[in-house]
Amino acid sequence: MTREMSFRILRFDSIDSTNLEAMRQARAGAREGLCIVAREQTAGRGRLDRSWQSPKDAGLYFSIVLRPELKMNSWPLLTLMAALAVSDALVKACGLRVDIKWPNDLCVKDRKLGGILAETIDTEKGSAAIVGIGINLFSHGLRDTIRDTATSVESEIAAEPDVESVLQALLKAISERYEVLQSPKGEEHTIREWCANSSFAFDRQVRVSLDSDSFVGATRGLESDGALRVETEAGRIRVVRAGDVTALRGMK
Ligand code: BTN
Repeated sequence: MTREMSFRILRFDSIDSTNLEAMRQARAGAREGLCIVAREQTAGRGRLDRSWQSPKDAGLYFSIVLRPELKMNSWPLLTLMAALAVSDALVKACGLRVDIKWPNDLCVKDRKLGGILAETIDTEKGSAAIVGIGINLFSHGLRDTIRDTATSVESEIAAEPDVESVLQALLKAISERYEVLQSPKGEEHTIREWCANSSFAFDRQVRVSLDSDSFVGATRGLESDGALRVETEAGRIRVVRAGDVTALRGMK
């Protein structure tokens, strides 16, 4: 049985990281649906221990506490679910279509517009997932060093997005996508939808960089737990669950 999600939003002018605050709240017993929103993060975190620049009023910095009723090895699908929700929300609130790059990047024309950091923690009420979402809303937040590789909603739609409308659209989309994910056949459905919304799902020439290894291949869809299938030049399928995936330009 699926439960209707109800949201409670805690807003901060400045915080270390909305994911860290959501973790603290979840450990203190917060229910599913608690959201943390901040105008700025002083220690914003990205995937693979990277930092996430979060200047004041330049982006949406958002985290939500989830307590999914999914088998543990399906929890990586929460990242895919969240990416779909961001994609839905940006179409709805800003008329902007984004591409999803495995596993957690939201891009427009190969420039990064946002990202997702999903983390799992143990709490007295059981395991919880903290799903953090960062969206570059305004171009003033983009430092010169990332201007070639990053973009913002403002740059893409040539207008100032309304932060509250983006947030409200995001909450609605999360509630819908999360309900679908937890419904019968919801995992397969989420994977199909992810593939339909990502130019990285099939036949994309990519380089996969792992800790101690890197290889080139063509994407061949997702495994049932959301891992990326990549066919190497030698014709072997490798299943990627970590690491960085970058598109090889001009080779699609
Ligand atoms: C990535 O692309 O590597 C993921 C970036 C996730 C950034 C968001 S901003 C809100 C939330 N709080 C954090 O510290 N990180 C996530």
